[in-house]
Amino acid sequence: MFLGTLSVLGLSVQVARAAAGVNQQIADLEKANSSQLLYPTDFTQNIVPKAIHSHNDYWRDVPLLTALSFGVASVEADVWLVDGELFVGHEMAALTKARTFDSLYVQPLLTIINNQNPKNSFTSNQTTINGVFDTSSGTPLQLLVDVKTDGVQALPFILRALQPLRSAGYLSTFANGTFVQGPLLVIGTGNSPLEQIKALEPRDFFFDAPLTELSVPSNTTWTPTLSPIASTDYGVAVGVCGIGPISQAQKDNITKFVQDADSRGIKSRFWDTPGWPIAAR
Ligand SMILES: *[C@@H]1O[C@H](CO)[C@@H](O)[C@H](O)[C@H]1NC(C)=O
Ligand SMILES: *[C@@H]1O[C@H](CO)[C@@H](O)[C@H](O)[C@H]1NC(C)=O
Ligand SMILES: *[C@@H]1O[C@H](CO)[C@@H](O)[C@H](O)[C@H]1NC(C)=O
Ligand SMILES: *[C@@H]1O[C@H](CO)[C@@H](O)[C@H](O)[C@H]1NC(C)=O
Ligand SMILES: *[C@@H]1O[C@H](CO)[C@@H](O)[C@H](O)[C@H]1NC(C)=O
Repeated sequence: MFLGTLSVLGLSVQVARAAAGVNQQIADLEKANSSQLLYPTDFTQNIVPKAIHSHNDYWRDVPLLTALSFGVASVEADVWLVDGELFVGHEMAALTKARTFDSLYVQPLLTIINNQNPKNSFTSNQTTINGVFDTSSGTPLQLLVDVKTDGVQALPFILRALQPLRSAGYLSTFANGTFVQGPLLVIGTGNSPLEQIKALEPRDFFFDAPLTELSVPSNTTWTPTLSPIASTDYGVAVGVCGIGPISQAQKDNITKFVQDADSRGIKSRFWDTPGWPIAAR
């Protein structure tokens, strides 16, 4: 469709209408809430997952969901065992009865992943389980559980809390010598107890390895089926650089630690990286 003709430098030119017809059709279909615009797994429509970590995720406006809205593929919850129940928060003073590991993470994840896996005639033959990201259904969401209270005491409660997700088949699991990836990869950090996690068979709760201690080749403890990731405090491993670029020695440290992990098939994470000044990032 065109508006009319315009004379430019003596030539007759056709002028397009300012608002394209396509915009009008989009507006009409959206206004009508057309069924053509809706599909079962549109919860994360257009959101591309990214290797970003939502540290202290419960600090976001809405735990879990704010991170997912940006495509953040890793979230972390600080978990406290108090009177037999798991609460989420940065410190004791921040805990409330409403903010439990179950209410903030387990139940929302169960609902989201259930909805990403509709049961209908189209999916009747599907053998894989979709993850939370509609644009990349095979990308798992990593959930770090930072245990704040005694790890040996908390572990059985954490494993029990994960039961709804386990029953649904949503947890990545190492069993009978085989790792099977699911929509979720749950990794214990903080006070998570290494020996007890190592002993889990099957294992669907993994251990965040110490990134600076992976270099001894004879140490066979660290495998990706125990520790899919390894982490370290950036200040300890690299040193806080302050203003300006980091030194060659610091770069060498970063390279070495990442290579140590990589050679074992383990991913690296540095926490408490410099945030200010922006140039120091
Ligand atoms: C649009 O339609 C869907 C499915 O029929 C319905 O669930 C939803 O509430 C409707 N939204 C609005 C704003 O009417
Ligand atoms: C599922 O498998 C059956 C048997 O092979 C086949 O008839 C049917 O068309 C398949 N459904 C879909 C949605 O692919
Ligand atoms: C592991 O192997 C045992 C014995 O063969 C079997 O009963 C069990 O179902 C297997 N577990 C998984 C998670 O495959
Ligand atoms: C492997 O390294 C870990 C972490 O440094 C340590 O706790 C463990 O004792 C080591 N194991 C062996 C067999 O050296
Ligand atoms: C490199 O890492 C080691 C720990 O493995 C640490 O002692 C040392 O200070 C680090 N060096 C730099 C330059 O950050």
